[in-house]
Amino acid sequence: MISDHDELQRRNRDWWEANPMTYDWARTLHLQPGTPEFYAAIDERFFRSSAPFGHPDYPRQPPFARQIYYPALRGKRVLEIGCGAGAMAAAFARQSALISAIDITQTAVDFTRRRFEILGLGGDIRPMDAEHLQFPDEHFDHVWSWGVIHHSAAIEAIIAEIHRVLKPGGKAQVMIYHRHSLRNWILAAWGQGILRGRFLTTPYDEILRGVTDGYIARHVSVADGRKLFAAFSAVRTELTDLADLSFIPGNVQVEKYLVGRVIPVALKRRLDNWIMRYFGWFLYIEAVK
Ligand SMILES: C[S@@+](CC[C@H](N)C(=O)[O-])C[C@H]1O[C@@H](n2cnc3c(N)ncnc32)[C@H](O)[C@@H]1O
Repeated sequence: MISDHDELQRRNRDWWEANPMTYDWARTLHLQPGTPEFYAAIDERFFRSSAPFGHPDYPRQPPFARQIYYPALRGKRVLEIGCGAGAMAAAFARQSALISAIDITQTAVDFTRRRFEILGLGGDIRPMDAEHLQFPDEHFDHVWSWGVIHHSAAIEAIIAEIHRVLKPGGKAQVMIYHRHSLRNWILAAWGQGILRGRFLTTPYDEILRGVTDGYIARHVSVADGRKLFAAFSAVRTELTDLADLSFIPGNVQVEKYLVGRVIPVALKRRLDNWIMRYFGWFLYIEAVK
């Protein structure tokens, strides 16, 4: 018998098979998948947009160097959950970590394998549902997962699996969607809930799901994020986001006109940082087993 959970998970997988993560929301990336140019364009979008919080010295430093201390991972077993097009899996491999990368879709696995082939990197890249990791207990020194586990049918099951496969003292670094973010208030609460009147008919979680990617997209508060990782110690949370408000209709043009003319660039940067820190859409959680 197919349970609601299995059906949800099937839809989750199908959604990502149909829309693999290439950072090409506006469909402007007309490059042949699997070519070096294709990967370079994805990395440019992913790493450039996350530079403000991930790696201030992009591209001279490896991605997310602010969060990841790569030298400590040399020769260590690192698991990436939900590798997408393999940008981070390759970054770990390039820094001499022993990388295992999994994704629920075959497309992501194929993209990542091809990337490794082009770069001459070694790694264990397999299709797998993170709710059922096919690795022994206490196998990994480190787990990385960026924007993945909130898309799965049972986020709790993945966190329990992360805990199981981590060695004692191993670290998990995970990003999930933050419920109380400026983006959600503007797009979901204001735009959909109030202006379009959807609050009258639709639960907020359902509205939230409709303004983001994935068939499932669970949004959690900081307090709930901490509860989800209660089995870990030294849990640290940080709110962050892409440093732009381009999701607000017309904002790109308005910003282009105002910033540098009316609003000093430095002030705009401070405002962006403030928004990211308190009302960011990305809830970054770091936790030690
Ligand atoms: C938003 S993309 C992020 C990809 C990559 N981490 C990145 O930052 O570019 C989400 C990815 O999670 C994968 N995914 C969703 N549910 C999963 C699960 N239960 N187990 C493994 N991967 C999953 C999807 O196939 C997709 O590639």
